[in-house]
Amino acid sequence: MNLLILGSGGREHAIAWKSAQSSHLKKLFIAPGNAGTKSVGINVDLNVNDFEAIANFALENKIHIIVVGPEEPLVNGIVDYFNSREDLSKITVIGPNKEAAQLEGSKDFSKQFMARHNIPTAKYATFTKENIKDGYGFLELMKPPYVLKADGLAAGKGVLILNNLKEAKEELKNMLTGSKFGKASSKVVIEQFLKGIELSVFVVTDGKNYKLLPEAKDYKRIGANDTGANTGGMGAVSPVPFANREFMDKVENQVIIPTIKGLKKEGIHYSGFIFFGLISVKGDPYVIEYNCRLGDPETEVVMPRIKSDILELFDGIATDTLGERDVEIDARSVATVMMVSGGYPEKYEKGKQILGLKEFEKSIVFHAGTTENEDGAILTNGGRVLAVTSYGKNIEKALKNSYNAIENITFDNSNYRKDIGFDLL
Ligand code: AMP
Ligand code: GLY
Repeated sequence: MNLLILGSGGREHAIAWKSAQSSHLKKLFIAPGNAGTKSVGINVDLNVNDFEAIANFALENKIHIIVVGPEEPLVNGIVDYFNSREDLSKITVIGPNKEAAQLEGSKDFSKQFMARHNIPTAKYATFTKENIKDGYGFLELMKPPYVLKADGLAAGKGVLILNNLKEAKEELKNMLTGSKFGKASSKVVIEQFLKGIELSVFVVTDGKNYKLLPEAKDYKRIGANDTGANTGGMGAVSPVPFANREFMDKVENQVIIPTIKGLKKEGIHYSGFIFFGLISVKGDPYVIEYNCRLGDPETEVVMPRIKSDILELFDGIATDTLGERDVEIDARSVATVMMVSGGYPEKYEKGKQILGLKEFEKSIVFHAGTTENEDGAILTNGGRVLAVTSYGKNIEKALKNSYNAIENITFDNSNYRKDIGFDLL
């Protein structure tokens, strides 16, 4: 099989790393990729939203399967584009079509979907600028903290959690009339604040069957003890100790199965990954959000825990036979710690040389934001730079291995969280 992976982050490096181990793989391309993906495949300079260029490349290189890393091409309809062209009918794009991707692309759509199928989630109402006054009234009826969500994609920044009513009203106004998040906030979902502990659950589905992948917990805040600004993710661990058998049974019965059945019942064809962003409230799962892709940095711990051949799962989707495939999971724990550029998630510099990268005995370094210059030096090229990932007998040992590896890696002004997993140990 020839495979093309779209994206350029740690998630895509991890998918590429896993795919490269498959006995079914012939050629592996990553577009656009990063300095790390070069070690397992061939980087191609393509824009992930340029569907025509992707299609031309796929035809020329006899690609069988395209795995879409980020959400944007899916929400923009890459699957629909491939389905619309007869000459591309032999190529499978792993991911949902535009309609199904609305589970991530529109918070209002996903809340309505959950309501129709009795899937546990926070109580909510949706407002536009036409009924902003009702929005103020709704806020007055709620207790703080207030949760405001831009309806559309806002690069992970569209959720505001505010403690003060006046501020919440102000921000609602900024979102609806000041277009704080552009078109994404022309609709705003206001919802009940849920108090609990979060985790990420992933499935892969062909629209009929699904396979559960390892769950993970990510650490979004920049500072120790989950303080400071939200980031794309500073680290992750898998498995998640509180996601025991009893809890995961609830997740399957109350969330996953009703989601798959609900999509089918509504005639929405969903194939690809579903990412359930969950919160456990006193041991009961609630959906915070759906994503139509895998998580980052969760994928950097999920892929290493999958023992089965990942291309067999992709082929299961391509041939509608996912039900016959097995997912074998490694019993070991995996942890990843993100090394980021100083200043991230606010202003930071790029182009710093990274030293100390080598084959580590106990760690795998997935590249998130890196590039290679003409002299072969590896340079930082983003806020999140490296996901230093390790196995261990338990989370503590896995983390220790990652922190040991980090001791060897340097670049100017680097930063990382020293307490990943702090709430689980
Ligand atoms: P989202 O972009 O929907 O994942 O939201 C970003 C973050 O906001 C989540 O990871 C949660 O930490 C938090 N969040 C979102 N919705 C709620 C809610 N209803 N109650 C508490 N926290 C929430
Ligand atoms: N780590 C959360 C996300 O990928 O959205």
